[in-house]
Formats: sequence, C-alpha cells, structure tokens
Amino acid sequence: MTRESWHTRLGFILAAVGSAVGLGNIWRFPWMTAENGGSAFLVMYLAIVLLVGVPGLLAAFVIGRRARLNPVGALYRLSSGSRSWRGVGLFAVLTAVVLLSFYSVVGGWILRYFVASFTGAYFGSPGAYFGSIDYGVPAVGFHVLFLALTALIVVGGVRGGIEKATKVMMPAIVALLVALAAWATTRPGAAAGLSFYLDFDAAYLRANFLDVLRAAAGQALFTLSLGGGTMITYASYLDDDRNLAADGSIIALLNTGVGVLAGFVVFPLLFTTAGGLTGPAKGGGPGALFVSIAGAFAQVPFGRALAVLFFGVIAFAALSSSISMLEIPVAYLIDEHDVDRRVATGTLGGLVLVTGSANALNPGLFGFVAGTLVNMMLTAGLVGSLVFVGWVLGKDAVAEMSTGAGPGVRSLGPAWLWSVRTILPLFLLGTLAVNLLALAGVSLPG
Ligand code: ALA
Repeated sequence: MTRESWHTRLGFILAAVGSAVGLGNIWRFPWMTAENGGSAFLVMYLAIVLLVGVPGLLAAFVIGRRARLNPVGALYRLSSGSRSWRGVGLFAVLTAVVLLSFYSVVGGWILRYFVASFTGAYFGSPGAYFGSIDYGVPAVGFHVLFLALTALIVVGGVRGGIEKATKVMMPAIVALLVALAAWATTRPGAAAGLSFYLDFDAAYLRANFLDVLRAAAGQALFTLSLGGGTMITYASYLDDDRNLAADGSIIALLNTGVGVLAGFVVFPLLFTTAGGLTGPAKGGGPGALFVSIAGAFAQVPFGRALAVLFFGVIAFAALSSSISMLEIPVAYLIDEHDVDRRVATGTLGGLVLVTGSANALNPGLFGFVAGTLVNMMLTAGLVGSLVFVGWVLGKDAVAEMSTGAGPGVRSLGPAWLWSVRTILPLFLLGTLAVNLLALAGVSLPG
C-alpha cells in the first residue's frame, strides 16, 4: 500500500507549524515568561530553541521519514525489533495523552472566553472573571466540549480540511497578533511591560539560573511539539526530496516568532491594564493571557467583535495542536493493534475526559501537570529520540538528513550527529535532574 505523503513542501511546513503553534505560544509562553524573570527567560528560551530545538527537530524528522511509521512502530522496526525501544515509543504515546489532559482544560477556557466575548462578560473585571471560571465544574464542562471537538475531527480524519483551514488561520493569527502588539506597545505605561520582557536582566538570571533553565527547556520542547512523538509522526509522511534541516529551521523560526509576538501583546497589557504581575488581577499565573487581553478588548473600539475573532482564531490554533496530540495514540492503536478508528478515538477520548476533569477540578494538580510533569516527560522523550538517532541509527541518520539536502547542510552532518550523541542528551538529562531535585524540594543554587 502506498503511504500518504504531503502534497507540497508548504503543506508539510504549514501542518507542522499548525501543530507547533497553539496554546504553547499564546498562553503558556507568556505564563512561563512572567514566572521566570521576563527577559532572562526569553534569552534562555531562544538559545535553547536554536541550540537544542532545531537539532532535536531534525532528529525527530530523521526517525519519522526513515521509518514512515508512528513513533512506537518506528522505534521498534528501526531497531530491528527491540522491545526496549518500543517502550520508548510507548512513552511518547503516553506523553501525548498527559499533554492533552491539561491542554484540553485550557482549550475549554478559550471556548469559554469565545462565548463570553459576545456579551463582553469579562470586560468589567478581567482578573475576577478568570478566577471565577478557571477551575471547577464549569471548567470541566468546557474541557469536555473542547475534547469532543478534538475527537470529532480525529474520528472524521478530515486532514484535508484542517490543512486547508490552517493555511488561512496561521496568517490570520499573525495578522491579529501584529495589530494587537502595535496597539498594546503604544499604550501609555507600556514601557514597563516591554522593559520586563526585553531588558536583559543578568542579575535575575544569575540568581535563578537553574529554575530559568528548566522552565525554558521545557517550554522550548513544548512549543515545538518535540519529545511527544508529533514531529516523528508528521515527518513519516515526508518524501525523500525534502531538506529536513531547512524545513526544521523554518518551522522553529515561524513557531518561535508567534510566541515572541504574543509577548509583545501580553506584557505591555499586563503592566497597563492588569496592574503588573502581582496586582489584583494576578497576571503572573496561568491567567496571564486571559487577564491582559481582556483588559485590552474592554478598551478598544469594536472590542467585542475583536474578542470574538481573537478567541475564535486561538480556539482553532488550539484544535490544530490538540488533534495532533490525540492522533498519536489513536494512530498507535490503529497501526499496531488493529483497532477501529472510532473505537480508538472513543477509548482515548474517554480516558482524557477523566484525567482532564481531574486537572480542571484541582488547580494544584493542573499546575504540576501543565508545568513540571510535562517539562519532564517531553525532556525524557527527546533524550530517547536523540540517543536512538545518535547511537542506533548513527551514520544512517546522517545519510537520512543528507537526503534531499544541499552540500552546505550535508557538511554539517557529522557535527550534528556528534551533538545528538553527546552534548544534547547530556544537557537535557541535566535539566531533568534539576526538575527532579526541585520536585524533591531541594532548593536550587542560582
Ligand atoms: N506545540 C503545541 C503548542 O505550542 C503543543 O501549543
């Protein structure tokens, strides 16, 4: 049977960007930046995207295109039937389920704000409104709604529709964010937010180096959809004529650009309309996006219409990421266990319904899963992929990354393989150890 493949290079790039661009850029990035020193976090995050994210994306692409299979099947078959490597693939599948368990709760918040934008219900007191809807039974309801939409799309397998819509929605997100950033950065008082975001704070970084490091590493992987099997799966539909390194660089650049742009909207607004990070609106937590943006829509002309458009577009960006998360375990059950697509989607949807509801009811659990646990699982998953590419595929990996690439990229192959074998897994294991120490309550030196 001929395996499906992307029609055009742009089709692959847009689909991968569609998976990468989501709540990670627009919601989690401002949250993490706000909690980790603003500019100090930004610098660390950009460095990790470049030095770890791009070579890591390339490793995921190499596995996917070489195997043309889901992550479990890919690692199993490329290792000539190793059960241990199959286990590493299964860990990626599990990670996707854990990710979706909190992602769907935030997707529910977005749907809630979409509905509330029609009446401007949150315009009067953005902080109090967010505090009244973030957790509890209504949050469970909207989580279930978001999950149901995700499952419907995955059951229908409307990849064509999603792909086509992504082509319109991605430019729409960028255009909206640019317009909002232009407005937000010219507000009186915006300078304080821009300074928090952009004036490099070396003293903060020195004092909190390890905390910033682990948060930035986790965020870099989360936003690039790395470590959970998505990029392996997407690259499994790639043809041999694609330049994997060039595509990976473009995807990382576009994705990171959207996150950085969101910061230009959120931070000026947090400092002008929400009273800073610790004010009554509590702009520093997971509500940073909601609280800041609500204040903006309350002030601009046609605020309600703009808010409806904004949350509608973000809901779509979130769905184009959440379907890629649900598709991984669904594809695994279909490919490896011959389960019917509807049954697979229903079973996994039911599972995430329960785990996501637990997150929606318990803020402490949500914070742990959405922050530390996901950081650690994605990091461990990427270490697995890197070690596999570096030590199991070895020279074959260089041959795979060279296929479709020009002489410039090919000449980088040996250096890339060396980094994938040694320095990158060691670095990631270091961040994992820091996370474990923090979890164990060991206070980290700066
Ligand atoms: N990469 C996806 C996002 O940023 C998960 O939302």
